[in-house]
Amino acid sequence: MRPTYLEINLNQLKQNIEAIRAHVAPAKVMTMVKANAYGHGIEGVAPFIEPFVDYFGVALVEEAIQLRALGITKPILVAGGIFIDQLPLFFEHDLTLTASSFDLLTAADQLAESTRKRLKIHLKIDTGMERVGLHEYEAEEFLQKSLAYKRLEVEGIYTHLANSEISPVIARRMLVPPTLAPHASAGEQSPIEDEIASGEVQERPRNDIVDSRVQLERFQEVLRFYEKNSLPMPMRHVCNSGGILNLPEAHLDLVRPGVLFYGVYPARDIEKKVDVKPALTWKSQVAYSKVTMPGRSVSYGSLWQVEGSPKRVVTVPCGYADGYFRRMTNQARVVINGKSYPQVGRICMDQFMVNVGGDDVKVGDEVTLLGGGIAAEELADWAGTNEYEVMTSISARVPRVFV
Ligand SMILES: Cc1ncc(COP(=O)(O)O)c(C=O)c1O
Repeated sequence: MRPTYLEINLNQLKQNIEAIRAHVAPAKVMTMVKANAYGHGIEGVAPFIEPFVDYFGVALVEEAIQLRALGITKPILVAGGIFIDQLPLFFEHDLTLTASSFDLLTAADQLAESTRKRLKIHLKIDTGMERVGLHEYEAEEFLQKSLAYKRLEVEGIYTHLANSEISPVIARRMLVPPTLAPHASAGEQSPIEDEIASGEVQERPRNDIVDSRVQLERFQEVLRFYEKNSLPMPMRHVCNSGGILNLPEAHLDLVRPGVLFYGVYPARDIEKKVDVKPALTWKSQVAYSKVTMPGRSVSYGSLWQVEGSPKRVVTVPCGYADGYFRRMTNQARVVINGKSYPQVGRICMDQFMVNVGGDDVKVGDEVTLLGGGIAAEELADWAGTNEYEVMTSISARVPRVFV
């Protein structure tokens, strides 16, 4: 096997799901395993975790089919945008459709009628994400129509939060009071301006933030349709990881954790009410070890040069084609033999170099790139991105080892 690999601690994932379940009970749990289980390797994660989850969620129909091929029998919701010509796959593989438009609803019904099959659907309401789904103000007709189709079973109804990782307190502060709005008369000073001036509020004031509670209210308004008409309520779901932590009143019947299931919090400053831990360690081994003389520069573009005394520079067989971002050049750090060292010189496609100074680091010594003291948050900072992108970018070329 390649010396560069990801080690996935399945038991940690199980503990994470149990912690989430205890926090949201009696709500059910749909674990999001899209994007190769957030980079963790769907082939190992999904079959292991299946007994502990109620539902799986993916973005693509192809991901759902992969789950079925892996032997998954639990329900699978395809949450991303669906094309009408993909609908037969939902019947073929017993998948749950996100019904996000009239066209999709009608086409699904026609197919159900012509094949004399039934299909489970979840209606998607857009309460502020502006991605897929019917706006809350046009939802009533959609809900009505969904009931007319006898072969479509409206099992669920859901929405997605745009800013759930922002705590309600910060969200409130980010809302701009009228005096700060663009039409405010000049010279007026609002309390929030004082707070910003005093450094108490770090966030840039925003009046375009969609507050999660506003989204929840819009969603609840849509749900009144069922109460008004004395109809059975479908399974209601709203919360991603941020919602699970910040918005207990939105847990409803089911939650959809992604990043939290993988042991990573959706924001740095979020209250860590659920005790989860990362399950992933990215490891490699020193492939080459040599001493580089002062004045010699390392790697493409000569972006780092040895200064002062000679330095031992070791080569790690992992690069940006593995998802070790080129943008982390001269910023990343790795751990070798329990000690942290700086990555130096441009990160190449398949290799990068590390300055171990005067230490005796040998070929074959283990290198930790992520996990084991290096957080996904750190890689995210070095690369100027977020933890989600760090994890999902680890490419298929890196073997996943499940322990
Ligand atoms: C519809 C839906 N639900 C839930 C999630 C999980 O989000 P998170 O990883 O923030 O928990 C996602 C991911 O973006 C999503 O698209």
